Amino acid sequence: MAHLLTLTDLSLAEITSLLDEAEEFSEGKYWRAPELFFVANLFFEPSTRTKCSFEVAERKLGLQVIPFDADMSSVQKGETLYDTIRTLESIGVGAVVVRHPEDQYFEALRDSIAIPIINAGDGCGHHPTQSLLDLMTIRQEFGAFRGLTVAIVGDIRHSRVARSNAEVLTRLGATVLFASPDEWKDDTNQYGTYVDLDEAVQEADVIMLLRIQHERHEEKMGLARKQYHERYGLTVERAKRMKDRSIILHPAPVNRDVEIASCLVECMQSRIFKQMENGVYIRMAVLKRAVERGMENGNHLKKWQV
Ligand code: CP
Repeated sequence: MAHLLTLTDLSLAEITSLLDEAEEFSEGKYWRAPELFFVANLFFEPSTRTKCSFEVAERKLGLQVIPFDADMSSVQKGETLYDTIRTLESIGVGAVVVRHPEDQYFEALRDSIAIPIINAGDGCGHHPTQSLLDLMTIRQEFGAFRGLTVAIVGDIRHSRVARSNAEVLTRLGATVLFASPDEWKDDTNQYGTYVDLDEAVQEADVIMLLRIQHERHEEKMGLARKQYHERYGLTVERAKRMKDRSIILHPAPVNRDVEIASCLVECMQSRIFKQMENGVYIRMAVLKRAVERGMENGNHLKKWQV
């Protein structure tokens, strides 16, 4: 399949190959699209890291980035996502990157859009490139996944990062622990075991903190920021009980002094900014795959030769 919609769609061999390629890009590997190739980044939800790192990756690979602003597009006149992507496909765009608030928006597109779609996050569903960059960061630290314990902490129910990571980490042989307030537990996610946060902090090799997804909550959070931090956040006191070699991850944006004490964001055990750096290399690998598969259908050559 040309699309990259969820990691569940990829075999472990394909995931390992993307991680290896991203690692090569981090070491300076040079690769450029052999032909003029247009891509468009369609973001219908706010983003800083994912959108900007896709654009950096696209420019590093010599791709032609078509500006797309959802607020100034014909989506505002009622055009559907399908018609928007079909339009771009018709004018010669070779691949699209899509972030959308609807869970699994891509199911309606999977079989009807020929150009590769890269999912940059669907509602509470999946965030495959975030998960890949998390895997890359973990593998750089520990060399492998089997036998590791990864604690995913916070708003599990509304987190596409938790959903993508729990499934793939389990497949890779890691043990996943969840720690969450009761109202944000996710009964549909069978890939982790719920434990008390203090137990998770002491056992984990990787502590993956999640942002509270206020925008996806129907009700206001019952706890004040300070109370949440003390009960479910990585406080300075809790961090002292981490294993010596364990690391802290967070997909960001970070609510400082809520999920994590502000002074821990760049502490020795934090890899939060390393994750962001790795995001560029992962997106280069993912885009290279899309370009190679997109070139097979030749859409980028439509109506012109250069
Ligand atoms: N981690 C992540 O997806 O961040 P953005 O929402 O800023 O893209």
